[in-house]
Amino acid sequence: AILGSSLMASTVFATSDWDAEDDYTAVWTRQQAENVALTKDTTAPLLETDEDFDLVAPDKWVWDTWPLQNRDGSLAQVNGYTIAFALVAPRDLGWGERHTEARIGMFYSKDGKDWTYAGIPYDYDKAYGHMQWAGSAMLDKDGKVHFFYTATGRKDNSEYFDQSGWEPMAEQRLAKTTFDISADKDGVHLTKEDEHQIMLEADGEYYETLGQWGSNGNIISAFRDPFFFQDPNTGEEYIIWEGQAGPKSNGLKPENIGDEAYRKNANVPDRAELYNGNIGIAKVLDEDVSELKMLPPLLESIGVNHQLERPHVVVEDDTYYLLTISHTFTYAPGLTGPEGLYGFVNEGGLRGDYEPLNDGGLVIGNPAESPGQAYSWWVAPDGQVISFINEPLDENGEVQFVGTFAPTLQLSFDGDQTKIEKEMGYGEIRPFGAYR
Ligand code: FRU
Repeated sequence: AILGSSLMASTVFATSDWDAEDDYTAVWTRQQAENVALTKDTTAPLLETDEDFDLVAPDKWVWDTWPLQNRDGSLAQVNGYTIAFALVAPRDLGWGERHTEARIGMFYSKDGKDWTYAGIPYDYDKAYGHMQWAGSAMLDKDGKVHFFYTATGRKDNSEYFDQSGWEPMAEQRLAKTTFDISADKDGVHLTKEDEHQIMLEADGEYYETLGQWGSNGNIISAFRDPFFFQDPNTGEEYIIWEGQAGPKSNGLKPENIGDEAYRKNANVPDRAELYNGNIGIAKVLDEDVSELKMLPPLLESIGVNHQLERPHVVVEDDTYYLLTISHTFTYAPGLTGPEGLYGFVNEGGLRGDYEPLNDGGLVIGNPAESPGQAYSWWVAPDGQVISFINEPLDENGEVQFVGTFAPTLQLSFDGDQTKIEKEMGYGEIRPFGAYR
């Protein structure tokens, strides 16, 4: 990467070998993914499960969580409150069924430790999708909350599980609305809900549509989890998301496998090509974040892993960290790795030749003694990582379904290496600066 192209006399912009709008997609290869390993720096501390967990919303399953951020990525504070959004579903639904009735709930806190559940802040009838899945939330300078989410399925087609499995209701589109926000002694309020809008749909070229989906054991096709990102070095804004490689990616290519020497002996099992995750990106063209220009994916994991979920970006000076979550069951045949947070690093810009962190890409993995204990890690600009308690094993080795905020972890980054520094409180979010 080249450094130091200066566009304004006083500002030095970092530049990568590629511009964000270029047609260059980094690759997470099978060769790299073979190095995925739990080490002392990447293994999450084992959760104590001999006590009952305090549930942040006792009658709700709570999972994917994201805080309200300012436009520059820093943590928003409104009259001294920290605000977070999370997927919620009634606890009397089965654990597995929660995805099919997911909504987005709001939480607020005065100290970033004790959270109050404030309900679902939008009118379900106005929202797109039979379900609302993960997204992000940004507070602009005029006090508008931009509320980005995944519209999954359609309200006029709520038969989720029919003969063909997930397909009819698995359609995912990126959507948004806006609100005004206020806070007083009674808590935080979102008002003046705007019309909802579909921002983006899979194009069938760079991003696979449901119709193009080649079933790999019913792991559905993704076009979800919009994350708003303002590049601190250029001021440009983007939405990034979890996608599935479309026809333009040309399927499983030699470069998805590894270098020439590796390829000589590599055995790529049948159907590996059906595991075709990617990280999508669009450029934001207006202040309202309602006009977007779709761009080629930032990264693909064809032949490696089907899901690069909830992708997000953290920047330190001119080093870009692209972070995502993934599962054991979504690895392509012949590869494996823990339920975890994965990450990639590029010098000099948002698009580039991302290399996996810690050799293979694993940043935080669940401990082998409790492989499902947490999921959906999300890294704040200062390296604190929130997640939720998922399926930890109890003392008898039985899986528990929990669904509440997990202990926050503090992560440090040093070039292409990361380290879990410490464990913080359950759901704790310390005020964070724009950049570490
Ligand atoms: C990650 C995830 C997201 C999706 C949500 C649906 O945990 O799969 O990608 O938005 O859960 O429940």
